[in-house]
Amino acid sequence: MATKRIGILTGGGDAPGLNAVIRAFVKSAAGVEGWEIIGIEDSFDGLLEVPHRLRPLTPKSCQGLLHRGGTMLGTTNRGNPFSYPGAQDTVDRSGELADRIRAQGFDGLVVIGGDGTQEIGYHMMKRHNIPVIGVPKTIDNDLACTDYTFGFWSAVDVATEALDRLHTTAESHDRVMLLEVMGRTAGWIALYAGVAGGADAIAIPEIPYDPDRFVAKIQQRRARGRHFTLIVVAEGAKPAEGSALPIEVSHGQGSIKAGGAAQTLAQLIADRDPAESRVTVLGHLQRGGSPVPFDRVLATRFGVKAVELVKADLWGNLVRLENDRITHVPLEDAVGSPRHVDPNHPLIATARAVGIEMGAPA
Ligand code: F6P
Repeated sequence: MATKRIGILTGGGDAPGLNAVIRAFVKSAAGVEGWEIIGIEDSFDGLLEVPHRLRPLTPKSCQGLLHRGGTMLGTTNRGNPFSYPGAQDTVDRSGELADRIRAQGFDGLVVIGGDGTQEIGYHMMKRHNIPVIGVPKTIDNDLACTDYTFGFWSAVDVATEALDRLHTTAESHDRVMLLEVMGRTAGWIALYAGVAGGADAIAIPEIPYDPDRFVAKIQQRRARGRHFTLIVVAEGAKPAEGSALPIEVSHGQGSIKAGGAAQTLAQLIADRDPAESRVTVLGHLQRGGSPVPFDRVLATRFGVKAVELVKADLWGNLVRLENDRITHVPLEDAVGSPRHVDPNHPLIATARAVGIEMGAPA
């Protein structure tokens, strides 16, 4: 049996299911194929920093991981090796990283991450000939070329439960409840959780909204004796005119994430209607905790597929979900253009058909 030595790392924000991919990869690669698997801690930092932080992974060291949130290897959404934070400016440390990968005798790397991390992997391959296989993760579901990333359905689950809980208190107090969910520039979590949680209105970045339409919805409901309204607001949602309240977007930039999208809409509603409103920013609750079964299964399928690709020497590819089959696609097709919600997406039509206000006409 030809033996291999493979490095594996997780990069970017964590997502439920990272541990499940690591476990599946190690069980199959080390347990079945007999390869040597080395975990690199905190994304590429584990090799960029000295002493390196590397850890041999075996089926035994991956026991009990399937249901655990977070990542046993640690992660970071800072420290891009192509523009690494230096004393004054950023520096390109990608060549140094490539030398260290070679010095470790790795046959290649399995890179588990979202668009930013996959882009790094792709450029390490293109510029420095480092063999890479990508595994797509992110709660935002905004990576191109895969039907779903793992982590997304776990985030939707948390957001849906939050809506269920807000529903009862909104109804008791006759309030407008705004729930702000994550997703960066994509509205996938807001759209799916909004439909699943019976929201009355949903605001997503892909459909800049007219606040008057949300106010009309509140007033129509009131006229029907429904004195409460539930609105899901994606963190990237903005009014079509005017600007959102100032918001610090962190995502690894070292600033504080304050949440401004729901607060902005609450203010615009308050300017137009006397309804009492409350804002809940769900934040990192969406990223922590156990993956839902769908994400565990998807992560396991991705991990096993990554082994198949290594075995077949199909470096430079991203594993993906395509019509319920696990296939692969060249990394270059998947990076650089995040997948946003198409305003003509069928689920938006469904949402409108059940009376959900999307903030703009179809
Ligand atoms: O990309 C995942 C994500 O959770 C986004 O939805 C969110 O905007 C961002 O990361 C938050 O990043 P951080 O954990 O750095 O605050």
